[in-house]
Amino acid sequence: MKIIDEIDKPLLLAPMEGVTDLPFRIICRELGADVVFTEFIASDALIRNVDRSFKKMKIVQEERPVAVQIFGSKIDAMVQAAKIVEDSGADFLDINYGCWVKKVVNNDAGAAFMKEPNRMAEMTNSVVNAVKIPVTVKTRLGWTRDNINILETSKKCEDAGAKMISIHCRTRDMGMLGKSDWSWIPKVKANLSIPVILNGDVTSAEEAKLAFDTTNCDGVMIGRAAISNPFIFKQSREILTYNTIKSYFDVTERFALCKKHLLLSIEYKGIEKGIIEFRKYYSGYLKGLYNASKIRQNLMYLTNYDEIIDELNKYEDFLLNELAKGTIIDI
Ligand SMILES: Cc1cc2nc3c(=O)[nH]c(=O)nc-3n(C[C@H](O)[C@H](O)[C@H](O)COP(=O)(O)O)c2cc1C
Repeated sequence: MKIIDEIDKPLLLAPMEGVTDLPFRIICRELGADVVFTEFIASDALIRNVDRSFKKMKIVQEERPVAVQIFGSKIDAMVQAAKIVEDSGADFLDINYGCWVKKVVNNDAGAAFMKEPNRMAEMTNSVVNAVKIPVTVKTRLGWTRDNINILETSKKCEDAGAKMISIHCRTRDMGMLGKSDWSWIPKVKANLSIPVILNGDVTSAEEAKLAFDTTNCDGVMIGRAAISNPFIFKQSREILTYNTIKSYFDVTERFALCKKHLLLSIEYKGIEKGIIEFRKYYSGYLKGLYNASKIRQNLMYLTNYDEIIDELNKYEDFLLNELAKGTIIDI
């Protein structure tokens, strides 16, 4: 797929419901994510014109390339939804075959497809044929640890026309527990010609490099670690390029981004929701900074934008002063 082929060692922001909204995607792109994904969107909701689902699909120029991810069990709904996604201007469309939660798999969607590789192939092919933009898939190793069938499902998706596959290296029965098994990536790669993206438990820039070095994957997709440290994309690019991380503690950059992200969140969601939903990102911006947990606690209670900015500014000034004096040696 051209979008991936043109980037050396691409770093992708994983789709995450309630997390990879427009503001977060913009910030991650600014911090070096090469490709970003929306949170998953129900095909049924899209074809019923549900406002909230359309909002999740809103795309802006500065976040491109961006994939819109959809899920569903019915071919006709997924085909209709795929056309809506194409009209929204998405650079490519990703099908979710990996979601493990009961309300999704009990409806035969998400990870449930792994139990039926032929249905997965039929769905993929129908969506591929419905749109002109590239169609990609994201899945897991298999339904259970005793029945890992990623070699079969990935091949079927490629044959059905998928242009890339992202693999969360766990099985459905693991949910989010246990450890991702990256050893399947080289095996899948040996079997396919489309890009194979590694996902699961990349928690640091060092691990992103390790993932490329040890699996020969075509890209690394980062999820939870981007919430706790959005700078992971920048740090990973640095370690991939220079073999060292240069930007651990740039206080000014951190605070500027935190404030920009907060503003984007308010712009996109409105003042109240924008401030409350932003709270999950404070720990990432303040991670590793001196006395951060105390400041984060204060920020969690604030609901007034000016007070938040004031708290952040005071903390930033304190850190910069102490750093200038050499008092804080290790932040
Ligand atoms: C809060 C949250 C929401 C998620 N939502 C989605 C989703 O909408 N679509 C999807 O394919 N995967 C979703 N995932 C799974 C992630 O994309 C990823 O596969 C998983 O977190 C493993 O990667 P990580 O170890 O880098 O976090 C979600 C994960 C989390 C933690």
